[in-house]
Amino acid sequence: MQDEERLITTGFREEDSDAELSLRPHTLAEYIGQDKLKTGLNVYMQAAIARREPLDHMLLYGPPGLGKTTLAGIVAAEMGHNIRVTSGPAIERAGDLASILTNLNAGDVLFIDEIHRLSHAVEEVLYPAMEDYALDIIIGKGPAARSIRLDLPKFTLIGATTRAGMLSSPLRDRFGISFRLEMYTPEQLAVIVERSARILKVDCERDGALEIASRSRGTPRIANRLIRRVRDFAEVRGDGKITLENAREALNVLEIDELGLDNTDITMLRTMIERFDGGPVGLDTLAATTGEDAATIEDVYEPYLLQLGFIMRTPRGRVCTRAAYEHLGLKMPRDAESKQIRMDI
Ligand SMILES: Nc1ncnc2c1ncn2[C@@H]1O[C@H](COP(=O)(O)OP(=O)(O)OP(=O)(O)O)[C@@H](O)[C@H]1O
Ligand SMILES: [Mg+2]
Repeated sequence: MQDEERLITTGFREEDSDAELSLRPHTLAEYIGQDKLKTGLNVYMQAAIARREPLDHMLLYGPPGLGKTTLAGIVAAEMGHNIRVTSGPAIERAGDLASILTNLNAGDVLFIDEIHRLSHAVEEVLYPAMEDYALDIIIGKGPAARSIRLDLPKFTLIGATTRAGMLSSPLRDRFGISFRLEMYTPEQLAVIVERSARILKVDCERDGALEIASRSRGTPRIANRLIRRVRDFAEVRGDGKITLENAREALNVLEIDELGLDNTDITMLRTMIERFDGGPVGLDTLAATTGEDAATIEDVYEPYLLQLGFIMRTPRGRVCTRAAYEHLGLKMPRDAESKQIRMDI
């Protein structure tokens, strides 16, 4: 199955577009969870406001759907400035970035999503812009060429990436602030589900919210998607109220198990266990055997399986843990664990 077809993909699906807008929190107070990040951010924002300076450039990284774009919008709003949203692949040429930068106002937030996908030429323009709020422009060609420096308004760059490891180190070093977004606990997701239910004007019992939350893979985007599916189910089968029973029933029909795993996850774990004795198996081999894209496995499936402790990364590849065997109702061969550990050394 292609990843974007999965109901529980952490990636953005077409059906999310309207809902994400209406469900997106607009203030830091409405932004649930990520407590360490919020505490730090609050201090940095207050300090910047007191000094009448823009906030330092900030890098947000972590798996899709955890709230990076949302947070960038909140920062701009809390600082009382506008946000300009773009992405690494959208900025094709250095000139595209130059025109974005010269159109900013002082204090504005420039949000670059998928910042690891900026081309080298564009990154070169970004360095002086971030460091000195300056744009170096070359005029003329050949021996007559000369460079002039334009001043830029003092802006804040917020970069987001699912792959911090793919950022070049000169770029990474120019961010004064860097935060990793963590997956949410079921309790935090339940609060998000209850908040979304209020906005969507759906009656939702606490138990029902918690059931949706615990099957949402630690990801608010999935929680918000599942609540809409469960609501449909509750409306057709009952009075529209989300309860533990109808949440459970709906999610079972949708083939999302108690931990939020779907058939793709199960197939991947089974392949690792049945064809590779539980691993270690290399990412590319796993991709070839399951017919999935290696990058998708790494960015989308794995973070949650790692979080659950169902797989581990070792220098020789991925291994399935005892918890994964148990979840699938399989017995882990006695020598499997010691074999994995031996290979790990
Ligand atoms: N902390 C939060 N509290 C409440 N809702 C949240 C929170 N974080 C995210 N959401 C909800 O989840 C949705 C997805 O979040 P967002 O688009 O910010 O994720 P993202 O990290 O930018 O994902 P991607 O990597 O795919 O761009 C938002 O529309 C919002 O409704
Ligand atoms: Mg985003």
